[in-house]
Amino acid sequence: MKYKIPRGTQDILPAQSKKWQYIEQKAHDLCKRYNYQEIRTPMFEQTELFARGVGDTTDIVQKEMYTFEDRGGRSLTLRPEGTASTVRAFVENKMHGWADQPVKLYYIGPMFRYERPQSGRMRQFVQLGVEAMGSADPAIDAEVIGLAMDFYRELGLKNLKLVVNSLGDKESRNNHRNALIDHFKPRISEFCGDCQSRLEKNPLRILDCKVDRDHELMSSAPSILDYLNEESLDYFKKVQQFLNDMEIPYEVDATLVRGLDYYNNTAFEIMIDGEGFGAITTLTGGGRYNGLVEEIGGPTTPGIGFALSLERLLMALDTQGVELPVEQGLDAYLVTMGDQAKEAAPKLLHQLRKKGLTVDGDYLGRKMKGQMKAADRQQAEYVLILGEDELAQNSVMVKTMATGEQELIKLNEIMEKIGK
Ligand code: HAM
Repeated sequence: MKYKIPRGTQDILPAQSKKWQYIEQKAHDLCKRYNYQEIRTPMFEQTELFARGVGDTTDIVQKEMYTFEDRGGRSLTLRPEGTASTVRAFVENKMHGWADQPVKLYYIGPMFRYERPQSGRMRQFVQLGVEAMGSADPAIDAEVIGLAMDFYRELGLKNLKLVVNSLGDKESRNNHRNALIDHFKPRISEFCGDCQSRLEKNPLRILDCKVDRDHELMSSAPSILDYLNEESLDYFKKVQQFLNDMEIPYEVDATLVRGLDYYNNTAFEIMIDGEGFGAITTLTGGGRYNGLVEEIGGPTTPGIGFALSLERLLMALDTQGVELPVEQGLDAYLVTMGDQAKEAAPKLLHQLRKKGLTVDGDYLGRKMKGQMKAADRQQAEYVLILGEDELAQNSVMVKTMATGEQELIKLNEIMEKIGK
């Protein structure tokens, strides 16, 4: 029996995990600058949370959830996204009562969706997400968008396109909804089964349908922007004004609806012009969700956030040839000659590591040449050569790999030579 990794998942091997660590650290640093604090929620939740939170007419809830029953007969689901969980934690921990409002949170962690795997679309993927809850100020919409754009820019990504839209408040959405029903109803039989069942429940979803996207009624469908009431329009204008002030370029696209049900007012996506990127060009999606906290049992609280997947980010960096400055080699590699030196190696390595150096040595009984080759492969900055003569003098021969220079150094002075 040969075991294989499940479809749509990946092993991240060491060369790659260095890049992961680098971008995760970048994310932590950036969120800190914006004063977002990390939250860690469970990998699974009650199924009902996502059905309610994400919305039961969405593809995620209808087709993509990993749902299972535990031994106690409870229906649980591997989280397909992070917003519902974060809002659940917000409500359960009564964060609306915290002195500092809005509550600004972020998370980095795996999400699970049963999708048809393709390049950039996985069944397990890692999202960086941020959620700001407790403020309905359009400035925070711009802040959240700015954070996402900064993240990409600081990593060196180019050709980004920020697309924004407004889905309006409840009243605007209702008016738009009725207009959509009037528009599609007479010819709904020409649409797929999903669209037909969504007509009454959530006609906005029809605009997101992949099967019928070329149907002529799609391009002529009523635009949300024509249905925004004064308040929603004002709000949208302010968000745009702040983006202008921050010199973040964007396009308004009235057809941007997003795949989750909880959005209102601001919705946005960040795309990339990417050759070799296949059909997947959306790197980030987010928006405002003013009704969600209430929906999940908390007090009326506005919220906004986004999520982006680190897999797609890494793909984008790769296709643009961006080299991340990940740390490669060792500070030092210890080469031993003879049994006595080999005996002394564990203690010396241990001491150097305690002092903060990245060091390694031989565990395969290799000859000196083999050990030198290993040091080279591991890109050691220094090689420490320990033989009987050096031992007798309580010293080690330090070879600087870049220059080939060698110097006999007392063991108790070694940090002065190779320490950082
Ligand atoms: P979403 O648009 O479903 O939104 O996903 C956000 C991002 O997650 C996408 O833009 C993409 O980068 C990544 N993503 C989604 N599915 C996959 C997949 N199968 N494989 C790889 N990457 C994927 C949300 O999840 C919302 N919770 C975002 C949000 C937060 N809205 C407000 N706050």
